Amino acid sequence: MRLYDGLMSSATSTPDPATGASDAQQVMDLEREFLLQNYARYPLVLDRGEGCYLYDVDGKRYLDFIAGIGVNALGHAHPRIVEVIREQAGLLIHSSNLYYHRFQGPLAKKLAEVSGLQRSFFANSGTEAMEGALKMVRAHGTKINAQKFEILALENSFHGRTLGALSITGQPKYRRDFEPLLPGIKFLPYNDIAALEQAFSERTAGIVIEWIQGEGGIFPVSNEYGRKARALADRYDALLVFDEIQCGVGRPGTWFGYQLAAPAVLPDVMVAAKPLACGLPLGVIVANEKAAAAIGMGMHGSTFGGSALACRVALEFFDILESLLPSIRRVGDYFRGRLDELARKYAFLRDVRGRGLMIGLEMSVPGKQMVLDAQAQGLLINCTHDTVLRFLPPYIVTEKEVDAAIKILDSIFAAQPSQ
Ligand SMILES: Cc1ncc(COP(=O)(O)O)c(C=O)c1O
Repeated sequence: MRLYDGLMSSATSTPDPATGASDAQQVMDLEREFLLQNYARYPLVLDRGEGCYLYDVDGKRYLDFIAGIGVNALGHAHPRIVEVIREQAGLLIHSSNLYYHRFQGPLAKKLAEVSGLQRSFFANSGTEAMEGALKMVRAHGTKINAQKFEILALENSFHGRTLGALSITGQPKYRRDFEPLLPGIKFLPYNDIAALEQAFSERTAGIVIEWIQGEGGIFPVSNEYGRKARALADRYDALLVFDEIQCGVGRPGTWFGYQLAAPAVLPDVMVAAKPLACGLPLGVIVANEKAAAAIGMGMHGSTFGGSALACRVALEFFDILESLLPSIRRVGDYFRGRLDELARKYAFLRDVRGRGLMIGLEMSVPGKQMVLDAQAQGLLINCTHDTVLRFLPPYIVTEKEVDAAIKILDSIFAAQPSQ
């Protein structure tokens, strides 16, 4: 008997003979007893997915417009991803970074081609990639002089949950319980060029910016702000770091968010993660030669980072992604257009923001119950910052699925008491 026998039968709800609890209830009860109670999960137990749809353990279907928080770029069970995982799992899953395998080099080459930067380091998650980038910034600065260790970051930003990434996350609610955090961090108001100019000094080792703030509520930085950050980083020999974990790797309709500006504002360092390996854990730091030179032999590493399996899946994904960029832009524009229509209809819808398939709908009312109402009607979305509905659908989404989502949202908005 396997440990999980009895958990695999899909769409055949089998109430616990003793308590009468459903499959879903049993899953939730077990977690409540044995897991750290840090996640306020929605009451939904997922079983499988296909394309833009997910199915729960009772067989109910949901249109997935959050895609594992921007991870499942090709939706669920994409045939090419399933096939390479099957094949590679039978060949080599992990080998550590003691040795070479076939796939890190080609993936790093592809990342160099599409990012305009030269050298990659593979990690397992966004926050781990950010930790490495922070070490790069620190090592770059302190090589120049011991006092050059300050890092600038933006208010309302989100960079991850580990202590370094948390130190530059500009939202006190995430930092509060873990202080004191890294010294030498300065938070700047978003898109404020005068404050940016004032903050830079010879002590500045680097600045970290999300081209489009994700968790903060889908706020893009202006091209002018990005360019000024580039110019100031050059003037003070500091590293410009873009956090592309949520807004990069195709989601904005370009390879990376910073390519939305024309001409692109090229950073010294870029970190990416979420969609890179379509659901397998993979993060990356991509750096130009100057920034990469800060990390010498033995200064950084990762046991799991850049496994053969994750890198091969990422290569397969990049093979497909280029041909998807036009439809990410087209469907994204269509989706924002349809949300704009709703915003004209309902006064509590204040603003539609974002690029490509990274979209936020700002409201003047809380969104938590709407997320639950959407789930009840078969649509998975998310709410960030209490009042911003966030949409991160898979890149394969079509206008037809957008229409289905809009229909559900319309009915939820129409039922709001403020109507
Ligand atoms: C912009 C940004 N940076 C960093 C992270 C942290 O990534 P991870 O959750 O993979 O550690 C996230 C996650 O949401 C993010 O959106």
